[in-house]
Amino acid sequence: MGLRGEWRAVQEAYRKIAEVYERANKVATFGNVDRWRREAVTLFLSLNGKTPLKVLDAGAGPGNMAAHLKTERYVVALDATPEMLRPNAIADDRVVGMFEYMPFRSGCFDLLLAGYSLHAATDIEKAVAEFSRVAEFQVVVSIGNPNNRFVRRLLRLYARYLLPRLVCLVAPPEVCREYGKIYTIITSIPPNSKLREIVEKYSSIIIFREKGLGSVYIYISRSKIA
Ligand SMILES: C[S@@+](CC[C@H](N)C(=O)[O-])C[C@H]1O[C@@H](n2cnc3c(N)ncnc32)[C@H](O)[C@@H]1O
Repeated sequence: MGLRGEWRAVQEAYRKIAEVYERANKVATFGNVDRWRREAVTLFLSLNGKTPLKVLDAGAGPGNMAAHLKTERYVVALDATPEMLRPNAIADDRVVGMFEYMPFRSGCFDLLLAGYSLHAATDIEKAVAEFSRVAEFQVVVSIGNPNNRFVRRLLRLYARYLLPRLVCLVAPPEVCREYGKIYTIITSIPPNSKLREIVEKYSSIIIFREKGLGSVYIYISRSKIA
C-alpha cells in the first residue's frame, strides 16, 4: 500500500472511533490517558517562564491537549480527519491538514502540542521536522515502543489480545477492531531510543520521560531553528 493508501486506512479508523474515543482511551490506558496529557502540559508551563500565546495543537482531535492550557491563548487545531476535529470547541481555528506538510510559516507558533498523534504519522521523521519548523517549543505525548525487548513483547501481547477486548467493554465491535490496529502501529514505530535520536536532530530535548513501561513517552523540546 502506498503512502496515500496507508493514510486512508488510518483516517478511516479515526472516523469510526471519533464518538467513543475518550471512553475507549481511558479503558485502554487503565485511566492514565488524560493524566499523561496534563503532566506534559503542566510540566511545560512550570518550566517555561513565558506564557505561550500562539499554540498549534497537532492531531488535535476534540482538543484534549489544549484543554490543559488554562491561560489566555490563541489555539489552532490541525488534524487530517475532519470527524475528529468537529467536536473541538477549544480551538480558535480548525485546519484540516497533515503533519508532514504543515500549511504554516516557519516559527509562527510559540508552542506545538501533540497528544497521542505522532505515532500515527505516515513519516515520523518528517512530522518531527515539521513540528520543529513551525513552533519554538514542542510538547508531545505519544504511544511508544519500549527499548527493552522483554517489555516490548509484553506490550505487544497486551495490544494484540487484551486491549481490543477491554475496549469492547465500553465501545461497539467495529471500534474494538480499530483499537486492535494499535498492535500494527507499535510493531512499525521506532523504539523510544531511536525516536529520541530523531527528535534530537531537529530540536534540543528538555525532558524525555517514559510512562506505562515505555508504552507512552512524553517529550518537551525546543526547536534548533527558532
Ligand atoms: C488519537 S487522536 C489524538 C487526539 C487528541 N490530540 C488527544 O490528545 O486525544 C490522533 C489524531 O491525530 C490525527 N493524525 C494522525 N496522523 C496525522 C497526520 N499525519 N497529520 C495530521 N493529523 C494526524 C488523527 O486524525 C487523529 O485525530
